[in-house]
Amino acid sequence: MNAAAPTFLMPSLLKSSCFLLLTALTARAAPVNASLRPGLDLNGQWHRIVDPYDTGYYDYRLQPYDAAAQPSGGFFLDRRPQAETDLIEYSFDASPLLAVPGDWNSQDERLLYYEGTVWYRRLFDYTPSGANSRVFLWFGAANYEADVYLNGHKLGHHVGGFTPFAFEATALLQPSGNSLVVRVNNQRRRAGVPTVMTDWWNYGGLTRDVRLVEAPATFIADCAIHLASGARDRIAVRVRLDGAQPVQKITITIPELSLTAGSTTGADGVAAIELAAPGLALWSPDRPKLYTVTVAAETDGLTDEIGFRTIAVRGHDILLNGQPLFLRGICLHEENPLRGGRAFSPADATLLLGWARELNCNFVRLAHYPHNEHMARLADKLGLLLWEEIPVYWAITWDDPDTLANARNQLAELIGRDQNRASVIVWSVANETPVGEARTRFLRTLIDDARSRDGTRLVSAAMEVRTDPADADHKIVDDPLGEFTDLQSFNEYVGWYDGLPEKIARVRWTISRDKPVIISEFGADAVQGMHGGPNTRFSEEYQEQVYRLTLPMLDKIPQFRGCTPWILCDFRSPRRVLPQIQDGWNRKGLIGENGQRKKAFDVLKAYYAGHLGVPEPRGSTTTDQR
Ligand code: GCU
Repeated sequence: MNAAAPTFLMPSLLKSSCFLLLTALTARAAPVNASLRPGLDLNGQWHRIVDPYDTGYYDYRLQPYDAAAQPSGGFFLDRRPQAETDLIEYSFDASPLLAVPGDWNSQDERLLYYEGTVWYRRLFDYTPSGANSRVFLWFGAANYEADVYLNGHKLGHHVGGFTPFAFEATALLQPSGNSLVVRVNNQRRRAGVPTVMTDWWNYGGLTRDVRLVEAPATFIADCAIHLASGARDRIAVRVRLDGAQPVQKITITIPELSLTAGSTTGADGVAAIELAAPGLALWSPDRPKLYTVTVAAETDGLTDEIGFRTIAVRGHDILLNGQPLFLRGICLHEENPLRGGRAFSPADATLLLGWARELNCNFVRLAHYPHNEHMARLADKLGLLLWEEIPVYWAITWDDPDTLANARNQLAELIGRDQNRASVIVWSVANETPVGEARTRFLRTLIDDARSRDGTRLVSAAMEVRTDPADADHKIVDDPLGEFTDLQSFNEYVGWYDGLPEKIARVRWTISRDKPVIISEFGADAVQGMHGGPNTRFSEEYQEQVYRLTLPMLDKIPQFRGCTPWILCDFRSPRRVLPQIQDGWNRKGLIGENGQRKKAFDVLKAYYAGHLGVPEPRGSTTTDQR
């Protein structure tokens, strides 16, 4: 799969020194659990200006207006004519509206293919409830780059379309008539994460919730709550405060277990606390037990619903709470096919995870980027295990330090958001990336980051399979990256991109590492309602045949411990152009864009019904305890 660089011209300032400068403008410490804190919901209808030439950002010499001390122009100033002589060539008040949260592509068919800049503007009034409160403008996500302005002043810049960020606005907030302007640009970039070629729709916009969040002058900026290493009845909590009063008493309370423990943060605002938790019920798909946990500092506090579980690998086995586990999974994109567009709401999460449950799944791979927070929180409640991933996808610019910094930042923001979600058991750092030294170095950095930020989960990537040049039926999994991951997880498309379904039963595997095998993708396209023979491409029968033959083939792999077939439902992709068949949709879903199940849906559902119990041990075992 080769990628053509887009022709979009950007001035030289987008070179590395600029990325470092931009990181200086990136989000500082923000209150943890921002989506649960008091403040103001800024969702709703926002005025928007579609600006393909970035007229509102650059002057005709391609100099950004917001780089000037006294900007001479720029839509972020949100000016209105004061006199008949005033020349102002834009007006948010007179501009159309876009719903937030939501992508712009599915809200206006003229914007379906639009990639570029859209300006959003929202007016609001807000008076902080506390005298010394700090206020932050928090975004669940904005694809791909966002410049945020309040009352004509720049708060910050964020890169990465799928993770939360926030900027402090305390000094600029007015009691009324605040003008919040956001420039969102979803232009694809060769050095971006993801890069220019993906197999999903590049939905742009303020795709998730926007809130003004109020927090005390010193607040909890980070908080990790999980079982202590190697224990099932001890809880470890790490808290970090941000603000002028870093040294504070911290109290952890779990009322249901009558547990309380305390400590004091150091000068760095950090405290690590361990508490014994006799009688703790562990979280699992069969019993997704959540406890109300309160973390109280002297000036701030948070309450969250937390599940406690261990996840580890031992030889070929994946162990949940010490018990071998078979992962009955499915992949899904963050898209609601029935409504069209990016999924963003609790209702979207209920729909998509509900379909996965109907399939008898206990595991979902959220591909290929961090999905919204509602997914992980609902998975905690439903008892669905999750694989979460950052969009290091296909041919990334491995040697570009800015690309690496960008990927590391996206991983850090994802882990920062979901580190307390019991449902999340795997951090994935990449999908189908070409074997090579620079690439493996790049991905090892991410794997090390994931392990150092959160040592309680498995780390992996969706790797590729190579074919024995001497034997097309002999598949080899020996990606050097597999040395550093906890799972041997790889994508295989025997029977679709590689031969016909009849080839599947002939395939032999050589898997170089003695680790649990997870098939992170397999599948075939089928148009819902289109019928033919088992070799009729795009028919339901072809897809059904691929599932019928693949599952027993995988069962023969001794280390096989689960799979996430590609994919739960059809999804939009600009790469899929076959008329009357694809029409801009990847058709590998088990559910059509109309919500109708395809025949293969029942094949997988029945197969998983046969795997509801604990998998019988197969193949050799060695120890590796987390
Ligand atoms: C790839 C890739 C997916 C893609 C799928 C397909 O393996 O990871 O993002 O959509 O194959 O070709 O359908």
